[in-house]
Amino acid sequence: MPIGTITRGTTNTNRLRRVDRFMQTLPVVRSSVDPLVVDLGYGASAVTSLELQSRLRKVRPDVEVLGLEIDKDRVRTATEQLDAVRRGETSFASDAAVSFARGGFEVPVRDGRRPAAIRAFNVLRQYDESAVADAWRLMVSRLQPGGVLVEGTCDEIGRISSWATVTADGPQSLTMSLRLKKLERPSIVAERLPKALIHRNVAGERIADLMTELDRQWQYSAPLAAYGPVQRWLATVDGLITAGWPVLGTGARWRLGELTVAWDSVAPS
Ligand SMILES: C[S@@+](CC[C@H](N)C(=O)[O-])C[C@H]1O[C@@H](n2cnc3c(N)ncnc32)[C@H](O)[C@@H]1O
Repeated sequence: MPIGTITRGTTNTNRLRRVDRFMQTLPVVRSSVDPLVVDLGYGASAVTSLELQSRLRKVRPDVEVLGLEIDKDRVRTATEQLDAVRRGETSFASDAAVSFARGGFEVPVRDGRRPAAIRAFNVLRQYDESAVADAWRLMVSRLQPGGVLVEGTCDEIGRISSWATVTADGPQSLTMSLRLKKLERPSIVAERLPKALIHRNVAGERIADLMTELDRQWQYSAPLAAYGPVQRWLATVDGLITAGWPVLGTGARWRLGELTVAWDSVAPS
């Protein structure tokens, strides 16, 4: 039996665009000799797996995406949707290198292949916090050397999103990605943190310190709003760096409303 529990299958077209864009930058996706990416728990429709493949193929034309679902009815639905793709009845390429199968955290892949990356989005949020460590360990154990697990959460339409990256060496980073237009306070992301952190936004935890400092810097940078929300966000990120937060990545990512910090700086105590 696949490892895990069937949960709500809510998904949405374009919901995962922010994490798709992040995954385009993963070195292992770009350079692996076997560019297989698993979309674990794709939900009630095939759409996010198809979108992931169409975005990743822009940077890695031979990428393959395998959608895994623990619910066999959802595998049947996705397979029927894929048939429509093959017949050219959708906006996706009819030869899109996408397939679907049943599976859980054990990440079953045929022919002894191991994925370069596993994306598990809005899957663990419906589990208990205590389930996270084992699920991470199991998924990571299925990766090829250098592989990355991207595990996170977002809102219904993908304007607020965050994810952790985890490798064989443990959790590496926390990324948040926000639609900056009309953003009132960046700590809104606290509602959509990965399961490992969402219950830790309380006094004494580093993730709570980060939420406070983010809002403080966003407020402090308010005068820059006259030049647009991106300039205000860039100043917010600069402020975090000055305050000593180990911000990763480059301005090209920050301009997208993204912010990545080293995991150790926010790890639960
Ligand atoms: C809320 S949907 C997420 C759909 C999509 N990833 C998204 O973010 O829009 C969660 C899905 O994960 C599936 N799921 C839960 N645990 C799983 C597991 N251990 N392995 C595979 N799929 C799982 C559920 O059956 C459900 O369809």
